[in-house]
Amino acid sequence: MARRSGVEGAGGAGVPPVRVLMVCLGNICRSPMAEAVFRAHVERAGLAHRIQVASAGTGNWHVGEPPHPGTLAELRRHGLDLDGKRAQHVGDLRLDDFDYVVAMDRANARDLGPGAVLLLDWSETPPDQPDVPDPYYTGAFDEVHALIDAASRGLLAHIVQEHDLDG
Ligand code: 4NP
Repeated sequence: MARRSGVEGAGGAGVPPVRVLMVCLGNICRSPMAEAVFRAHVERAGLAHRIQVASAGTGNWHVGEPPHPGTLAELRRHGLDLDGKRAQHVGDLRLDDFDYVVAMDRANARDLGPGAVLLLDWSETPPDQPDVPDPYYTGAFDEVHALIDAASRGLLAHIVQEHDLDG
């Protein structure tokens, strides 16, 4: 996917940031969780100026809504928040602006088309199946957090290596 150039206020010294888009169906449960958790890994690694993360949904039913209360509660348990986050639809974004379009499940990846990758493919210990289960239906926000957290480490390690962000 194309690298975007000239993003104001990010990247530093004229280097465009690596842009990551987390995608699920509604953009209220899984992908906002992935946005916050992955961003926390990026910040801990001191790479907030080099890597930007956003999230969106393949469906538009929840556009403009804040994340699901279960997602916000689980994030709070881990000391994270998503103040101001509102659901957005992938159709309102230019996917070419993102270096990584990261799908939470195979249905999301199919809807996104070629170029999308599955988040759990980055898990260091691959889980039984490749989809982040949807807590909108299961209520298992803690399980979703654990899966997303493990895969976020792998995805960040990959981006650091691929974009030579080590220092
Ligand atoms: P998400 O969960 O894709 O993880 O945000 C869902 C949220 C809403 C719906 C389905 C899944 N829905 O059908 O409204």
